[in-house]
Amino acid sequence: MTQASSRSAARFVLAATFAGALAGLTGPAFGQAGEVNVYTYREQKLIEPMLEAFTKDTGVKVNVISASSGLEQRIKTEGANSPADVLLTVDIGRLEDAVKAGISQPIKSDVLDKVVQPQYRDPEGAWYGISMRARVVYVSKERVKQDTITYEELADPKWKGKICIRSGQHMYNNALFAAYIAKHGPAKAEEWLKGLKANLAQKPSGGDRETARDVAAGKCDIGIGNTYYWALMINGGPAQKPWAEATKVILPTFKDGGTHVNISGVVLAKNAPNKANGMKLIEWLAGEKAQHMYADINYEYPVRAGIEINKTVAGYGKLNPDPMPISKIAEHKKAAADLVDKVGFDN
Ligand SMILES: [Fe+2]
Repeated sequence: MTQASSRSAARFVLAATFAGALAGLTGPAFGQAGEVNVYTYREQKLIEPMLEAFTKDTGVKVNVISASSGLEQRIKTEGANSPADVLLTVDIGRLEDAVKAGISQPIKSDVLDKVVQPQYRDPEGAWYGISMRARVVYVSKERVKQDTITYEELADPKWKGKICIRSGQHMYNNALFAAYIAKHGPAKAEEWLKGLKANLAQKPSGGDRETARDVAAGKCDIGIGNTYYWALMINGGPAQKPWAEATKVILPTFKDGGTHVNISGVVLAKNAPNKANGMKLIEWLAGEKAQHMYADINYEYPVRAGIEINKTVAGYGKLNPDPMPISKIAEHKKAAADLVDKVGFDN
């Protein structure tokens, strides 16, 4: 064991979030050959069974650092000695942050190239999408009679005072607004965002689930949220289930396009000390077993073709993802954030 990896192991002991990840970290015979270090923003509920299954399949032990923010910065600060092999994250915003922080190295994998469509990966291989989620609407079953809707229509004055949404600066909305800019250009996007703002029932607040809560409470007719939250609510405990029961999910589309999809993805760390195992894990995550887990534990859409979509999620109707590459959306993130400020969306 090198000095650097010994230090990093100590850090993992302090920071690892679940006991299973710690097994075998302390013995002097523990070498790098059979381990991989994962930094993750993903929830333990999803990631723990998945990484355990990976270890079972491959014999490679996984050490985990889990956080809700700052992982890119942490890897950057750790520099050449960073123990990070793989970063697991959600949202194109965070994947791009990782690239901008200079902590990624290109992933080269024929296996992944076959599974992950070009639309869902970085052209240079800096990140690959592994699962997908769509940004959709939860509408009142009682008060909204239509079964289809476009993103453009959300700015129609007929919805004045009827829409609930979280902060326009949240990464999920930022990606949707960036996609709108990519589709229609900045001037039309500004007009649309002003229209959407004018239709809000209240100041942007809460998270996606709270928009369903507020629809259920009659504060608004349409809540904007991600596909998996509704599935978590309807299949979850009694506190939130009624929020889902009062609403139905419509998959909106762009007028000339499909539904806005975002990804969860992987980055191979620039200084990955266990690069081969990192690649093994990344390819495993795109495999059939893991893809089923993304679908059934987290209610996401598998990126791999031919994997069954969870029943609740399939009940939303057939997803027709907008064909725009995720990397194209990323190019407009800054403009989207500026636009939110410009129109005072969150005020
Ligand atoms: Fe989320």
